[in-house]
Amino acid sequence: MKAKLLQLLLTMSDSYISGQAISEQLGCSRTAIWKHIDALRKEGYKIEAVQNKGYRLVFTPNLLTDHSIQATLATERFGKKVIVRDEVTSTQELAHQFAQEGNEEGTIIVAEQQTAGKGRLGRKWYSPKGTGIWMSIILRPSLAIQEAPQLTLVAAVAVVRAIKNVTGIEASIKWPNDLLINDRKVAGILTEMQADPDRIQSIILGIGMNVLQEEVPEELEEIATSLWKEKGVQVDRTALLAEILKELEWFYDTFLQSGLQFIKPMWEAHARGMGERITARGVNETVTGTALGITDQGVLRILDDKGNEREVYSGDLDF
Ligand code: BTN
Repeated sequence: MKAKLLQLLLTMSDSYISGQAISEQLGCSRTAIWKHIDALRKEGYKIEAVQNKGYRLVFTPNLLTDHSIQATLATERFGKKVIVRDEVTSTQELAHQFAQEGNEEGTIIVAEQQTAGKGRLGRKWYSPKGTGIWMSIILRPSLAIQEAPQLTLVAAVAVVRAIKNVTGIEASIKWPNDLLINDRKVAGILTEMQADPDRIQSIILGIGMNVLQEEVPEELEEIATSLWKEKGVQVDRTALLAEILKELEWFYDTFLQSGLQFIKPMWEAHARGMGERITARGVNETVTGTALGITDQGVLRILDDKGNEREVYSGDLDF
């Protein structure tokens, strides 16, 4: 009910809407509406109330709540169930639990703060309170196990588009899972899988994005940034999260229907370092050469200095 009321106030924010009209549209009493308005005000929403005119939303706090997200979403399945927590160790961990308990595809877990945020290759992900989007999504794709890593590339394209749509900023992709602005990392993607020997049970797709940090810790200054630092404005996290889910749902469905071929040119167009000299440091070997692009399976192609085309499955890139 709170989400529906907020949605109504958001869509009508240019004009007033009377208590009577709200109660008719939402099918609830004026007293119930008043209580929800009061609760929203306590969260920081500024809602004007003018006699004979009604209510008007004039200020939205930059909070992530289940009702703010539900009121803003424009998806069919992603975010149908939203779980928001103030503080968690890692939304990935919680999402794994929820997936094991049978929660359906598209369920999202969002936290205002992570005390043990996880990055790729066992790294830490710095997730201070109220400053980012720390979110995990439960996916249940019908894919072969070896196809699962491609979802990282699909998500990267979706997130780049969402950033562009909401802020106008052109982020670039650093293979396989980093998103950069001005060559500093603004977001990362982590894909983890629960699988039987021959079948994926679920994939937990984690997205971490630095949005409102005015500063990043000194040790990360050279390599990390935030939308606030790049754009100088406080991007609304709920709007951005909703846009990420909209793009992700579309790209995910397209990928499942048509494979990576359709998304690959978009990925390559946004990727940093294509056609340039790069070094890929894998677990077992390091390959230096010209980045050619990715295969239809999302494997990085590099033309090495001996003129051989090499395929790199995982690793870190240096430009
Ligand atoms: C990386 O760049 O190495 C991946 C970072 C992924 C961070 C996100 S934040 C939400 C989700 N929960 C986590 O603990 N990690 C992912």
